[in-house]
Amino acid sequence: MKNFLPLVLLLSATFAFAADEIKINYDEALVPEYTLPDPLTCNDGTKVTTVEQWEKVRRPEILEQFQREMFGRLPKELREAGNHPDFVTFRVFEQSDDAYHGKAIRKQVEITFKSLTTDETVKANLLIYLPKNAPKPVPMFVGYNFQGNHTITDEPEVVLFHTRNSLEKVDESTLEGKGARGGSSSRWDLDQILDAGYGLATIHYNDVAFDGNRCHETGICKLYGFAHDAESREPDEWGSITAWAWGMGRVMDYFETDPQIDAKRVAVMGHSRLGKTSLWTGASDSRFAIVISNDSGCGGAALSRRSYGETVHRINVSFPFWFCLNFRKYNEDLAALPMDEHELIALMAPRPVYVASASEDRWADPNGEYQSCFFAVPVYQLYGTKTPFDGLAAPNWPGAENPVGNIIGYHCRKGGHDVQSYDWTQYIKFADKYFK
Ligand code: GCU
Repeated sequence: MKNFLPLVLLLSATFAFAADEIKINYDEALVPEYTLPDPLTCNDGTKVTTVEQWEKVRRPEILEQFQREMFGRLPKELREAGNHPDFVTFRVFEQSDDAYHGKAIRKQVEITFKSLTTDETVKANLLIYLPKNAPKPVPMFVGYNFQGNHTITDEPEVVLFHTRNSLEKVDESTLEGKGARGGSSSRWDLDQILDAGYGLATIHYNDVAFDGNRCHETGICKLYGFAHDAESREPDEWGSITAWAWGMGRVMDYFETDPQIDAKRVAVMGHSRLGKTSLWTGASDSRFAIVISNDSGCGGAALSRRSYGETVHRINVSFPFWFCLNFRKYNEDLAALPMDEHELIALMAPRPVYVASASEDRWADPNGEYQSCFFAVPVYQLYGTKTPFDGLAAPNWPGAENPVGNIIGYHCRKGGHDVQSYDWTQYIKFADKYFK
């Protein structure tokens, strides 16, 4: 086995603890003292004072740190293929110009990922709703869904997901709750989105890469990645968040070919693990003009060093396939992390970025999510942005239902870990400022 020794060390560091043995802190007074890495100081100590230095030197350094130490790298073939790889193709297999109570154009697009070496393929369905009466091309919100495209609305034409990519075949009549047809519609306020003149596109994340220890048995991780289990990856080999982020880049490739969609006005949005994914998507693919994180927490918008709510250690134990193996080195040594999540936010600069928390979602550390926004401000200031940082002038958490900021926006909704209409209202207001 390659790299045997480091692997044993990593594994023993990770499995020394069961998830529930890892201490979780919810007391602000017990947040440890920490020093954040400075996004504007290069690895060699040089201070960044110009946009050119940021873009040519410092930004690539930070991107590399996130790639190598946290999310993992794409396989070489995918990196080298760039955007619009010829082994990913699109086919609109269903369309209605009179969908969703007559308000929308609906399209379903089959995305086919072809293997680079065999005849194998992986298929994923992209569901698109466009406001029927808005002038084309339209701006878009796009995000992965957890339970299948059919959960967004109750429209019977919407195809569930590609069961051949999931590990088990699913019979629709057994699906209930959030997983039933229309069951997650409260998370996707389609009326509000369409009425505001935006389209909405979504794709089931398991179609692209399976969210589980067996991710190597299905989806694009199998097709392009590891023919072995997640535990025997190279230390910097991709985890599923990188796979999902790359998949979202292919959705953008499709948008760039659809004349009804304005690919220059696309906001990528995600909730929770899919919020971690939307941030990593926006950081790695600057075609996404706005990036939105909803309750992404640890490994997303929340500062790792605060160790409030979910910690790096805990997330690596509970979800060992989301990040690369290198991330486990920091389980008990956060001070050694070369970067922190404010720098993930800073990687979006100068594009607008929005972070949302929920007041009862302490697991995701609302204050830590705000802190990341605050400590990303200096990078945006480098661009001499004329947009004021209202409410982001001090590291004090603004509290619930008090949206703040401009080019970096933040709100904390009252309530629990979820996406609700209140969140969409803020996202639309935010997007209107830059897209309209
Ligand atoms: C768990 C996990 C979080 C994640 C969330 C989700 O709670 O610990 O990190 O954001 O699941 O994706 O729903």
